Amino acid sequence: MKNKVTKAIFPVAGLGTRFLPATKSVPKEIMTLVDRPLVQYAIDEARAAGITEFIFVTSRGKGALEDYFDRAPQLEAELEAKGKDQLLEVLKSTTMESGAIAYIRQHKALGLGHAVWCARRLIGDEPFAVILPDDVIAAETPCLQQMIEAYEEVGGNMVAAMEVPKERASSYGILDVREDMGSMVSVKDMVEKPKAGEAPSNLAVIGRYILTPKILENLEHKRSGAGGEIQLTDAIAEEIDGEGVYGFRFRGQRFDCGSKAGFLQATVSFGLARDDLKDDLSRYLHEVISSEKAAQ
Ligand code: G1P
Repeated sequence: MKNKVTKAIFPVAGLGTRFLPATKSVPKEIMTLVDRPLVQYAIDEARAAGITEFIFVTSRGKGALEDYFDRAPQLEAELEAKGKDQLLEVLKSTTMESGAIAYIRQHKALGLGHAVWCARRLIGDEPFAVILPDDVIAAETPCLQQMIEAYEEVGGNMVAAMEVPKERASSYGILDVREDMGSMVSVKDMVEKPKAGEAPSNLAVIGRYILTPKILENLEHKRSGAGGEIQLTDAIAEEIDGEGVYGFRFRGQRFDCGSKAGFLQATVSFGLARDDLKDDLSRYLHEVISSEKAAQ
């Protein structure tokens, strides 16, 4: 088995019902943080980590995603004719090399584990990454790159991890820690969406994974777990006493862009990080906060 991680799976088949009515016609992953779709952040993070093959697990109604990564010759020609070089550069930075992206359809919404398993033939016998574009992570060194560096030391399977408030634990995959080594923990158990009060800790799995092909084998015979879905967490948990499972506490700020509140927070934070927007935006935020305070 080769050790270098060059392939990443992006499960994007979800219906995005939390964002209805927007997601009636726009895939959730195309929704924009400032001016870049969610999926662009995921792709940029993967590229920074050395990923060269991008596998999207899609579903009916996700055609806009394929168009997004295609070239836009008419638009390019127009920008060129008008001398809009900067915009042309922005546009070109989103174009993917021919053959670098593959799309696989998940025909039934059977869960995250099933979505990842749908990509098995494109993975073959090598370790691979999984990125959930809903989890946007702002970090100096992109999260997946941090993980790949750590993975090169320890091997096995690795999930991004972060402490969450106790009362939120039932929304996540939760790790039970065998040994805490600081930025890395070895895992003795993991549970998908534990019932309230039953979580073994508040250390949650965040949507970045580096996995071995054994996980795809495990998924082959997986029955449905939490929520009646085939869970990736369960297939990884099978390797705790096999190839090993590590949690990696990344350095960075994670936004849950699968929720409206998280999406709005990310929008503000990414807006404030932009030179062209920060002055106006922070002035506006100050105004809003002071008038809220005055009204109290
Ligand atoms: C998925 C995973 C879960 C993980 C979460 C992170 O859940 O199944 O283990 O903690 O992503 O965002 P979902 O949010 O898709 O229900």
